[in-house]
Amino acid sequence: MPADAAPAGIARGLWVFSRPNNDPAKILAVGITLCLVCSVLVAGAAVLLKPQQDRNQALAIRKEIVGVAGFQADSAQQVEQLFQQHIETRIVDLDSGNYAEDIDPATYDSHAAARNPATSSALASDQDPAKIKRRPDYAPAYLVRDGERIKTIILPVYGYGLWSTLYGFLALAGDGKTITGLTFYEHGETPGLGDFIKSPAWQARFHGKLAFDEHGKLRLAVIKGRVDPASPEASYEVDGVSGATLTSRGVNNLLRYWLGDQGFGPYLKRLQAEGGKT
Ligand SMILES: Cc1cc2nc3c(=O)[nH]c(=O)nc-3n(C[C@H](O)[C@H](O)[C@H](O)COP(=O)(O)O)c2cc1C
Repeated sequence: MPADAAPAGIARGLWVFSRPNNDPAKILAVGITLCLVCSVLVAGAAVLLKPQQDRNQALAIRKEIVGVAGFQADSAQQVEQLFQQHIETRIVDLDSGNYAEDIDPATYDSHAAARNPATSSALASDQDPAKIKRRPDYAPAYLVRDGERIKTIILPVYGYGLWSTLYGFLALAGDGKTITGLTFYEHGETPGLGDFIKSPAWQARFHGKLAFDEHGKLRLAVIKGRVDPASPEASYEVDGVSGATLTSRGVNNLLRYWLGDQGFGPYLKRLQAEGGKT
């Protein structure tokens, strides 16, 4: 066999690396090998880091829930402690407003359920102001109790703003009517415009507002412009943000959706009737 003749099989694969650096076959082989090694490393890292990412995501959600419930947590450990000690997770059947005792809150994922036609229902466009397309049959409610009575109810809320789906939590007092907090933890609205939804000062404007009137009618509204304190509607209305009216409208739509008949409306009506004892 001549000195530079190519051997066969695996030896041929390795032989190519012994060729001079400017040999096109070696350049190609080195490039392909590098790509393969890098893709194995990236895929391996993604698989290995997934459990940690899931834990971090769950912790971030718990931090929001604990925060909107009114607790102050300065570390991950404190978030976990406060969540375990004070937050009771219940799964709500959105149609009936009753608790679903047979679903384990520790493993139930309402966002995954909303993607599955077997565990969700499609919304007609006139039923879907929040533009979520499908509604899960069951959704979690997070409760803080004061003895037997419910002190705070924290509800997951989401819906479309201008560019993106906004994800947050709305907190209500045990009367099922009075808003005690609102937070958004994920959105893709424009920095400096639609991202006002993360502003604590704007979120604070919801504190003490009433979602429903004395007849149980849904009244909460994020309005365009400023609320007139002298208006009879003032206790139900929250200022929109000028220059970001489309995101403000998205917040209005998603809150009204989740407080309404297709969302947690039946559950909140039950709480209102039972005086926060359920
Ligand atoms: C690049 C760009 C990004 C924008 N991002 C947002 C946004 O995130 N949220 C929003 O409500 N409006 C956003 N706007 C403005 C809207 O198009 C619209 O003009 C505004 O919501 C109307 O508010 P106004 O009626 O109070 O003026 C953006 C506009 C531009 C040009």
